[in-house]
Amino acid sequence: MQDRQRQVITSVEACLTHTLSRFGDSPVAQGMRYATNGGKRIRAVLAMESARLHGIDDAQSVFAGAAIETLHAYSLVHDDLPCMDDDDMRRGQPTVHIKWDEATAVLVGDALQALAFELVASPQTSDDPGVRADLALGLAQAAGGQGMVLGQALDIAAETAASPLTLGQITALQAGKTGALITWAALVGPRMARADQTALKTYADALGLAFQIQDDIIDVTGDAAAAGKAVGKDEAAGKATFVSLLGLGEAKRRAQTLVDQACNALSIYGSEAETLQQLARFVISRQM
Ligand code: IPE
Ligand code: IPE
Ligand code: MG
Ligand code: MG
Ligand code: MG
Repeated sequence: MQDRQRQVITSVEACLTHTLSRFGDSPVAQGMRYATNGGKRIRAVLAMESARLHGIDDAQSVFAGAAIETLHAYSLVHDDLPCMDDDDMRRGQPTVHIKWDEATAVLVGDALQALAFELVASPQTSDDPGVRADLALGLAQAAGGQGMVLGQALDIAAETAASPLTLGQITALQAGKTGALITWAALVGPRMARADQTALKTYADALGLAFQIQDDIIDVTGDAAAAGKAVGKDEAAGKATFVSLLGLGEAKRRAQTLVDQACNALSIYGSEAETLQQLARFVISRQM
């Protein structure tokens, strides 16, 4: 891990700890702390690096970084529920509904989603209320029924579809369920600086797909202890993935091509974009 990644993780985790210390000690508050603990923090690094590229201080972008990790944690708590993927392990620990119960897990997810918007809308995020509103608008669009939630719905629907999804349908599914939040994270910098989003949008759209392809590859080739979650479940569940449609070799080639595209899109930033380019390469080499 690079020094910069470590720096981002330290500051986002301090922000999360501080924010969540206000929530008391109810089961939901405990579950919120539990569910936001751990993880690779890829979305926080994307948010804070894209901000740094646009001259925004970490002291401000840390709130956007914490917000996207909070929203992502909510999506995982709900993704693991028995009515969704029915998973018992996440980040090497029992999932929230196993440690507490399903009602608590639903509420923990709900509360984390609300907290993400509280963080984005808080005055610490930006002195400019217009910037805060634009971040919140973008996050609502990325998280909701045209973004992550739509992708999750398509993912579940595909399990019982009469015929396998086409490449275009799988691409749309994954762009929603995984890509939308990754793209929001990567656009934090241009949104906060009111700068052009084109290069980072191209980077993030390619990276989001590569990220989900690697997640699907880990499910086929990975190890549960290393991944911190169950593997080998997607095929049995009838999940629609690039691996299920194209096979492992072609899925790997596609992920590599997408990462090359992502890295090339950042050439306009010169050597300043190195951390984001290294992050893209990490995304398809990771085993967790
Ligand atoms: C897992 O995301 C869920 C997907 C979108 C595939 P990550 O692999 O980023 O999970 P953490 O945050 O590192 O645990
Ligand atoms: C989860 O995708 C995506 C979201 C939570 C939005 P997966 O179901 O593939 O993620 P894992 O494999 O459980 O981490
Ligand atoms: Mg899922
Ligand atoms: Mg899952
Ligand atoms: Mg998966």
